[in-house]
Amino acid sequence: MNHEAARTRIESLRATILHHNRRYYQLDDPEIADADYDLLLRELTDLETEFPDLITPDSPTQRVGAPPLEKFGAVTHRTPMLSLANAFSDEELREFDRRCRRFLGSDDPIRYVAEPKLDGLAVNLLYESGRLTLGSTRGDGATGEDVTLNLRTIPAIPLFIPRSEDRSETPGNGMAAVPGRIEVRGEVCMEREAFRILNRRRTEQGEPPFANPRNAAAGSLRQLDSRITARRPLTLFCYAIGTAEGISFRTHGEILRTLAAWGFQVNPLIRPAADIETCVQYYHHIGQIRGALPYEIDGIVIKVDDLLLQERLGAVSRSPRWAVACKFASVQAQTVIRDIIIQVGRTGVLTPVAVMKPVRIGGVVVSRATLHNEDEIRKKDIRIGDTVMIRRAGDVIPEVVEVVQTARTGVEKPFIMPETCPEPGCGSRVVRMEGEVAYRCIGIACPAQIREHIAHFASRGALDIEGLGDKMVTQLVTAGLIHDPADLFFLTGEQLLGLERMAEKSASNLLAAIARAKNPPLDRLIFALGIRHVGEHTAKRLAQAHGTLDALMAATAEELQTVRDIGPEVAAAVAGFFREPANLQVIDKLRSAGVTFRMETTRSQPAPFTGKTFVFTGTLTRMGRSEAKALVESLGGEVGNSVTKTTDYVVAGKDAGSKIEKARQSGIAILDEEAFFTLTESNR
Ligand code: IVH
Repeated sequence: MNHEAARTRIESLRATILHHNRRYYQLDDPEIADADYDLLLRELTDLETEFPDLITPDSPTQRVGAPPLEKFGAVTHRTPMLSLANAFSDEELREFDRRCRRFLGSDDPIRYVAEPKLDGLAVNLLYESGRLTLGSTRGDGATGEDVTLNLRTIPAIPLFIPRSEDRSETPGNGMAAVPGRIEVRGEVCMEREAFRILNRRRTEQGEPPFANPRNAAAGSLRQLDSRITARRPLTLFCYAIGTAEGISFRTHGEILRTLAAWGFQVNPLIRPAADIETCVQYYHHIGQIRGALPYEIDGIVIKVDDLLLQERLGAVSRSPRWAVACKFASVQAQTVIRDIIIQVGRTGVLTPVAVMKPVRIGGVVVSRATLHNEDEIRKKDIRIGDTVMIRRAGDVIPEVVEVVQTARTGVEKPFIMPETCPEPGCGSRVVRMEGEVAYRCIGIACPAQIREHIAHFASRGALDIEGLGDKMVTQLVTAGLIHDPADLFFLTGEQLLGLERMAEKSASNLLAAIARAKNPPLDRLIFALGIRHVGEHTAKRLAQAHGTLDALMAATAEELQTVRDIGPEVAAAVAGFFREPANLQVIDKLRSAGVTFRMETTRSQPAPFTGKTFVFTGTLTRMGRSEAKALVESLGGEVGNSVTKTTDYVVAGKDAGSKIEKARQSGIAILDEEAFFTLTESNR
């Protein structure tokens, strides 16, 4: 075939294939058999192989997927993928706005961009020199999975960022030049109708249906065989960028316009908002039309438009201060409580859980709801057999709102907290500690506690041991192979192979994953130990302040309290934990297994304000107090409330008060606002 004939045939094949895609995906009414469709695609692929210059990025061959992978690679995001703080009402939206203005030290209204909050899963697309080179899931925000092959099959994802001269239909439209490197972020979703069709087809073929469009989207994207993803009707809406090199923007709105001009799909309901009241109206409006949208959303997101302000506001923990998600009121449903069972947690707390007649609520089938504790059950007078209203807000665990009193028949049974631990193989005494609502099992050998403790140790935010989920941990504990987290590191292949349904390959994978966990970042190790009140954030603070586990273990409760964000209760819990002989034994065992107890990276240069304490007085004109505090902390310093022996600098703003006098008397350095900013700038 000559070049010209090939071109004609290729064009006609593409048109035919697009037609059949539409019949299959959008109309659910295929005209030809799958095998015939494959033949068309095959012919097109062959022709394109012969005439590679005729390949275009939008050719259906570019989107059919590739042979299956063994597993996904891990991707460390160049810029972390943050999550959003939540608001649930008009008032909480306004409170967010007030916080921003207080932080910035300004009364001017803030301009926002208001967007629907799409209910799918977040992905990151890396374009280098305009070509899509890497696509990944959000994962835990720091690292995700490499799903490039799968993302390439989604029609809404451009494989190239077009150069402006290639877009002849819009000459001189001022389209931004292609940057050297840019990460584009957005949400992969499945439209409701496509979801319905997919589920119908699955049921017909005897496959289990997906619970909701979000699960369907996630399940489809995380296929090792991208050819399966290619046949799933996924789409993508872009709403942010990560790392960007060779291009800069002034506003979030400008970013969205540029993405749209490049051919990315940007949600058509996104609006600029001149102030917070406009956002509140938007929240109501979107709430009203929500049910009529072709895709699912679970709220709105508002973002400060000005990128300089975004930068000043920064982030706390894992969420930016410049954006908030405002969720829609939860959805409720009615069902019946069939039983109330007890779950025993890591710290021995007994949590009553309602087992309910399964009910659909907000697109998800729910059959369990936590009842929190005995007081809560008494307060709501919840009994076994009751008809109840349950509620689910976003991805939050469902909860019982109230009992439908009129449905009572008199046979409902009140719940009684057991006196001994119901966990098989435990049976220890259950006590209610003074001042606590919780009942605890006091057995130190309680299998449930051991299981939960080890599962926590291996979980995502902790040592993140792949393949060691709840099921595996239960199996190992039940088989008597492990009794504490340290035992994991002494497991042998032989022991694992003795377990039910454990093949050579999975055993060696698990051992490798455990071995990889031997050099954890210190904060994750501290979090993994499961000390009461020590979450991920506190663990980070403790790690930064002490540098090694040994230093942390040696600290007294008083010393611990000097660490930022650590109060007396946490300090006592930490010190108490390291006095407990059983805990020390586990730590010794971890040490002998070769687990390292140090910071992963030590700062080569200490932060410039390390060990320095600042106290502010009066009003700053250039920024709010919180922003100034964040600035000091970002340079390693601390901010105190009052002038004490440990104060190094007092920063005096307008109308400074008595703190100045005190500083003068104690000979503490006093900085005016200018001097303070000069000091911070020279240290940045
Ligand atoms: S912006 C720093 N915009 O919500 C802000 N996120 O809780 C990063 N999401 O992981 C996200 N719609 O999966 C942003 N219009 C929107 C969104 C959106 C949905 C999801 C996204 C993200 C999560 C954050």
